[in-house]
Amino acid sequence: MTYYLSRRNFLHYAGVGLASSIAATPVLSQAQGQNPLRIPALLTGQMRAGVRHYDLTMQQGSTEFFSGINTDTLGLNGSYLGPTLKLVNGEQASMHVRNTLGEVTTLHWHGLHVPAKADGGPALEISPGTIWDADFTVMQHGGTFWYHAHTMGQTGSQVYRGLAGMIQLEDDETTQPGLPNEYGIDDIPVIIQDKRFSRDGAFSYIGMHRDVMAGFFGNTVMVNGTLNPYFEASTTKIRLRLLNASNARTYNLSFSDNRQFSLLGSGGSLLETPLPLRSLVLAPAERADIVVDLANGQNVNLLSTALPSGSPFLSQGMMRNMQAMNGEVFTLLTLRPQSGAETSAELPRRLTVIERIPEASAVRTRRFQLGMTMGMGMMGMRGGGGGRGMNANTPFNINGQSMDMSVINERVAVDSTEIWEIVNDTMMMHPFHIHHNQFQLLDRNGQPPRAEEMAYKDTVKVGPGETVRFIMRFENFSDPDTAYMYHCHILEHEDNGMMGQFVVV
Ligand code: C2O
Ligand code: CU
Ligand code: CU
Repeated sequence: MTYYLSRRNFLHYAGVGLASSIAATPVLSQAQGQNPLRIPALLTGQMRAGVRHYDLTMQQGSTEFFSGINTDTLGLNGSYLGPTLKLVNGEQASMHVRNTLGEVTTLHWHGLHVPAKADGGPALEISPGTIWDADFTVMQHGGTFWYHAHTMGQTGSQVYRGLAGMIQLEDDETTQPGLPNEYGIDDIPVIIQDKRFSRDGAFSYIGMHRDVMAGFFGNTVMVNGTLNPYFEASTTKIRLRLLNASNARTYNLSFSDNRQFSLLGSGGSLLETPLPLRSLVLAPAERADIVVDLANGQNVNLLSTALPSGSPFLSQGMMRNMQAMNGEVFTLLTLRPQSGAETSAELPRRLTVIERIPEASAVRTRRFQLGMTMGMGMMGMRGGGGGRGMNANTPFNINGQSMDMSVINERVAVDSTEIWEIVNDTMMMHPFHIHHNQFQLLDRNGQPPRAEEMAYKDTVKVGPGETVRFIMRFENFSDPDTAYMYHCHILEHEDNGMMGQFVVV
């Protein structure tokens, strides 16, 4: 790893970052020196008696993001982040998760359709020094998912320190001819996260009221834990599995030469056909499976730029100024095509068929109003060492109720189809996520969803003033005693009340 920014400059920039205005801070990752993109190990598990076993150890570690500077981090089977898990549709999987962290944690499979007891939500605590086993059959469309800590009140802190990784769920469609599919060669995980480094190189987390209200925004963006990364492509097309694993930041992604790329899927499944786009908005927990054509041999940067002025996802009013560096241009990843690159196949015309769930099949509509109370102090807010207990002063709620482990907010009948209507009367966008299954978007403010939102999804952006409706089948896994979660995926909002629980009975 080479990192050319001198330690002196680094300390200078980091120092500025700690001073009042983060918005004016130069971005560390945009110094001249580039580093090869780290590719997380691929964990394919071990097949024993028809079951594929995966061993994950949650551990403390130290990671050298800046040359010569060690940052305390958390990871799985390594010092920072975790391996990419390859799951295969139709197989039985058995996860063995060992907690050596010295603190309570949980591990959730975001987007997977699994029994409540295997879901890894906040009730499924893994005590320090113990192993948690989760068994399930993989039974859903192939796509790009992820796993992360989901500990009550500590999700933001634990994910920020590194407890997250990617899941690539394969089926016949995600591996069909024409789709780049060689891990680390032409099928590349791109885990995007923003951080704030303190003077000594430590991760700095919540420090101000606004870090909770707007969510935590860093001043440095990393991909797979690599600062200022580049990737040398040996094929003329590469598939990027984009995952926004940031606590709160939304990225408006495009390429530096404004080239077109193809969107294959949005996480929960492929789209019916590849969709040509020039930009894509990725909120926390959203994924996008894209293919970029590098046949012209030119280097190109994956960028994040400010949301355009007409975007429905822009914050309004006072919330606008609370999201540090939201207008900044970040260079996330440089793609360097190698000379003599192997020519990739043409993309298939048709990727999958998505049968739309008829609206008339829904037995009911549930309404969820997202709420936030402004003007509270830091009192009662969680994150960065706050208490794990329930606190009545939480600034966020859904339908007026803040997350309470002892309250089951909703009971859903197994095998029923429901419409959920998410209403956002606040001044900022909230990415709404539901456990248990994938949904189909019905409409946004009464308008049909955009083409890029027509695959199965588990997380949807709900802009300020918007109402979004989706439809979902609550198949399998009835369990009156173990809840699934629904929540905002801005982790500081989730940790501070914008979450609820439902059981499938
Ligand atoms: Cu990404 Cu409730 O989870
Ligand atoms: Cu989830
Ligand atoms: Cu939120």
